[in-house]
Amino acid sequence: MHSNKSQIQTDVLVIGSGAAGLSAALRLSHLGKVTVLSKAEITEGSTFYAQGGIAAVLHKNDSVDSHVADTLIAGGGLCDEKAVRFTVEHSTDAIHWLIDRGVAFSKQDQEYHLTREGGHSQRRIIHSDDATGKAVSTTLVAAVKNETSIEILEHYIAVDLITEHKLGNDDRENRCIGAYVLNLAQDRVETISARFVILATGGASKVYLYTSNPDVASGDGIAMAWRAGCSVTNLEFNQFHPTCLYHPEARSFLITEALRGEGALLRRPNGERFMPDYDDRAELASRDIVAQAIDHEIKKLGIDCVYLDISHKDPEFIKSHFPTIYKKLLNYGIDITVDAIPVVPAAHYTCGGVTVDLNSQTDIAGLYAIGEVAYTGLHGANRMASNSLLECLVFAQSAANNIEQHWQANQGQRILPCWDESQVTNSDEEVILNHNWHELRQLMWNYVGIVRSDKRLERALRRIELLQQEIHDYYANFKVSNDLIELRNLVVVAELIVRCALERKESRGLHFTLDYPLVLDNAVETVLKPNSLI
Ligand code: FAD
Ligand code: SIN
Repeated sequence: MHSNKSQIQTDVLVIGSGAAGLSAALRLSHLGKVTVLSKAEITEGSTFYAQGGIAAVLHKNDSVDSHVADTLIAGGGLCDEKAVRFTVEHSTDAIHWLIDRGVAFSKQDQEYHLTREGGHSQRRIIHSDDATGKAVSTTLVAAVKNETSIEILEHYIAVDLITEHKLGNDDRENRCIGAYVLNLAQDRVETISARFVILATGGASKVYLYTSNPDVASGDGIAMAWRAGCSVTNLEFNQFHPTCLYHPEARSFLITEALRGEGALLRRPNGERFMPDYDDRAELASRDIVAQAIDHEIKKLGIDCVYLDISHKDPEFIKSHFPTIYKKLLNYGIDITVDAIPVVPAAHYTCGGVTVDLNSQTDIAGLYAIGEVAYTGLHGANRMASNSLLECLVFAQSAANNIEQHWQANQGQRILPCWDESQVTNSDEEVILNHNWHELRQLMWNYVGIVRSDKRLERALRRIELLQQEIHDYYANFKVSNDLIELRNLVVVAELIVRCALERKESRGLHFTLDYPLVLDNAVETVLKPNSLI
């Protein structure tokens, strides 16, 4: 057996450097060594690109009950009320924690400015202009770089989790004790032993051809947890953001929902508004409703996009509230103070994920999942805008608290390097990966998008199974690379999404199927367990 020499030993391995991973690392750094992995630069992840803000109970006229009620309505009857209340009750503290770390949220008249987004019955979104994620990410990155007990490994991509049972120790409890990671700079697989492992790898929206997400959102954490033996919940609920820029030169650029919160209107190409035909809340209906309405208009009228128009507001107000969007769109010849913005829906958020409890614990001892990779029960069938950064912060803290409680009891162990590359060679046809990657994302867009049917889902599943076989053979025969690891994970997540979607015989929240257009009386989560699939 050929083995690598490289080994790393740490107390807590955090896989992912977004809001979830960095918050957890900061909350644990006083206990011991924390190692944070990032498969690209440390800031590259959805967190950095977040625009609108973070939902929290901050205004004197707001209340936990009101935020909880709005979240439950947006979630289409499928939220876990305990998880919603837990999250919202911790929201004020979570924001103060960020303010104490130095995040500069926007102010107006000495008070923090709160904006509004779809589904919220009142203004409760604290933000930093229209670039909240950048403010949060850069502040947290600076803080972790200041902590000597936090080790940051950029350009390291986790390949798989190491558990007792994967090592053949079936007589022991199936604990997670580390991970195999590919050091991209050295092109070599290394073994990390850890007392505790936290998955904070973000979502899987890259499984769709059009998405608002950065390239790193390839569902790695969901796939790794699944292969390790964890259950996943509600993966059929893929949120499509209603308004991404439609422009041939623009790639994945979001137009924040806060624009609609501040009065922007959705129009047909002839200038007519259409949202009042679909929902009393019009442009501020929840995201599932707005995205489905736009999809319906595009198909009905045979048009490429609809238009988002804020040009009726004062130009100075627009420029000061949305400086990033204003400047970015000027590059494409669109002046949002006078022009309407061409927009289409695109895959934005993975509402389901690795099943966890309120301590962020997965089904496997020692393994936690936080942020977009996790399913906590907060979002149900549709995430309410700006609840996700909040979830990252609150569940990072709950994971850290739980790890602290178990710190003494779990001393960990050093894993001997056991990655075997003796049977593999360098890939002879890298281009196959590109073809498979494109085919997968195209078929997910065509058959598993905003409007579904059993026939489309079954067609998708047949193609996914073929791709899976090819990718599996490729993985077995060639050395791992970043693209191969991501593709291997994406195809697993695609299968799980389709299987969850096939299980749901109703239309609820983000899952709309022509075969079962009604909502069933009983709201039930879709839970898949690794040994339940044949
Ligand atoms: P991310 O921030 O996505 O970070 C994932 C990390 O995991 C990255 O560091 C990545 O490198 C790493 N990683 C992944 N796989 C591996 C691997 N195999 N090995 C090593 N590292 C790995 N939510 C809101 O609440 N408010 C908003 O205003 C808002 N706006 C948004 C705007 C955009 C354009 C997008 C895309 C999302 C927005 N969201 C918003 C959603 C929110 O940003 C995300 O849900 C949240 O940031 C996810 O944070 P995270 O820490 O879970 O993951
Ligand atoms: C946005 O700014 O529209 C995104 C908010 C979110 O995804 O929560």
